[in-house]
Amino acid sequence: MNTISTPEFDKSIVLIGLMGAGKSSIGRRLADALFLEFCDTDDEIVKAAGCSISDIFELYGEVEFRELEERVIERLLHEKKYVVATGGGAYMRENTRSRIDDNAITVWLRADLDILVERTGRRGGRPLLEQGNPREILKELMDERYPVYAHADITIDTGPDGHEVTVRQIITSLIEFLKVSQ
Ligand code: S3P
Repeated sequence: MNTISTPEFDKSIVLIGLMGAGKSSIGRRLADALFLEFCDTDDEIVKAAGCSISDIFELYGEVEFRELEERVIERLLHEKKYVVATGGGAYMRENTRSRIDDNAITVWLRADLDILVERTGRRGGRPLLEQGNPREILKELMDERYPVYAHADITIDTGPDGHEVTVRQIITSLIEFLKVSQ
């Protein structure tokens, strides 16, 4: 993919947002465009635990999952410069949030309810959405989480446009953000 230009920065870029916002697929493309490695915290948790996210929730509970998530994110942030896609709940935990805020540039991928419902409907393995009506659960999570996600350094609306469009918007915003924060 052609990039507009490659911004220079010394921190990882951490993508936050609800399930279905496109953090992993956009994150992969963003990493390619910036010549960085991509990392998905859910994948790292699955590797570390040796079982699926659903199994972790079922066998050990959400609190244990959040602790594992915090440790994985802490490790990644100190390992090297990555584009990191986090699970939707990671930024809600105070400790995890401050680790991210202190060590990364945060990008919130904001999406509306219809998009989230449609995208999360394409694959399962998300235990929180199996506890009732996914649309209602996502709506509640939007109400609870969007005010917290709004602390991100950069907010990008992801709509029906392709991921490449979103990646370009992120890069443009990163360039602007770096100009302002230098
Ligand atoms: C969660 C989101 C999931 C995963 C877990 C919990 C959440 O990741 O971490 O099921 O609390 O929103 P995605 O946002 O990548 O689906």
